[in-house]
Amino acid sequence: MDTRILKPTQEGIQLACDIISAGDVVAIPTETVYGLFADATKADACANIFKAKDRPQDNPLIVHISDYEMWQDTVAEIPEDAMKLAEVFWPGPLTIILKKKDIIPDEVTAGMDTVGIRMPSHPVVLEIISKTRLPLAGPSANRSGRPSPTDAQTVFDDMTGRIPLVLDGGECNIGVESTVVSLAGKQPILFRPGFITKAQMEDVLQKEVILSKGITEELAKDEKVLSPGLKHKHYAPKAEVTIINGDFEKYKLLVESENATALCFDEYADRLNVKTVCYGSQTDSKTQAVKLFHALRQLDEIGAGKVYAMMPSTEGVGLAVYNRLLRAAGFRVVNL
Ligand code: TXA
Ligand code: MG
Repeated sequence: MDTRILKPTQEGIQLACDIISAGDVVAIPTETVYGLFADATKADACANIFKAKDRPQDNPLIVHISDYEMWQDTVAEIPEDAMKLAEVFWPGPLTIILKKKDIIPDEVTAGMDTVGIRMPSHPVVLEIISKTRLPLAGPSANRSGRPSPTDAQTVFDDMTGRIPLVLDGGECNIGVESTVVSLAGKQPILFRPGFITKAQMEDVLQKEVILSKGITEELAKDEKVLSPGLKHKHYAPKAEVTIINGDFEKYKLLVESENATALCFDEYADRLNVKTVCYGSQTDSKTQAVKLFHALRQLDEIGAGKVYAMMPSTEGVGLAVYNRLLRAAGFRVVNL
């Protein structure tokens, strides 16, 4: 299969709509990361997504909508708390998990009776959903296990020969995937931290949002998990990454003594006598989020073997950054 890259002009968008309506997959930019989109109401179309990504069948897909009518069509019920979050954070980087309707096939939700729904804010994906009038299943557009792509060329590198079309809408401005919160049970549970923070949701809901196990610590192999993405290997570069929690002088001594590669904040690069890859300023979690996945892929490009990463803040958007880095590091953290 030939994979084309097109700008999201009217022709590009029309072609994307035609491919999706015919049951195939298109890579489309969103404000978080690029996604692989297909008709969420057709099991066959969604099977093409799993195939293109080599994604395990037990990991459910997020369904993207463009208006509240589609939301009502896809979930059994919209509780008050869900409406509150949607009114504040949609369109935007938040996925809300609720009980699903039968129109969403089991293949999309990995057999679970819930579905994660998100109304993205990026104009290109919104236009395609509105035009096709289809809820679209859309995982990140990486091969399974790799860092999520935040530009069209990276999607192309992972997906060439596997999908017919990539729409090139430039760089994603958030850089990490949406916050995933479940409102399907008695209490709100955060399954994946993102740009919309736990504190922001608690402000709106006026109640506690529980942090799911698996976000800041590794789950045991046999542990029961409510969100399958928490247990899958993810974001992993080929290099062996370890997060270092300690002051800069000790960090410098360690990386230099082992001649490892430093995955560091911008302001420290000049002070290290080893190869460095930067992932934003130490005091700016939002920029770290934009840069992290690029940085992880860059480690592979420069052939890094052993990598020591500087520990990010875990506050606010920092928790999203830390969660991705922690998984890239296979949960290896050393306190110096
Ligand atoms: O920002 C995003 O959310 C991007 C863009 C393309 O919209 N999409 C994305 O999808 O990151 P994906 O498939 O890479 O990640 C979906 C995550 C997985 O960790 C999955 O386990 C979880 O959401 N998930 C999806 N549906 C779920 C459900 N019904 N219950 C629990 N977890 C669910
Ligand atoms: Mg993903």
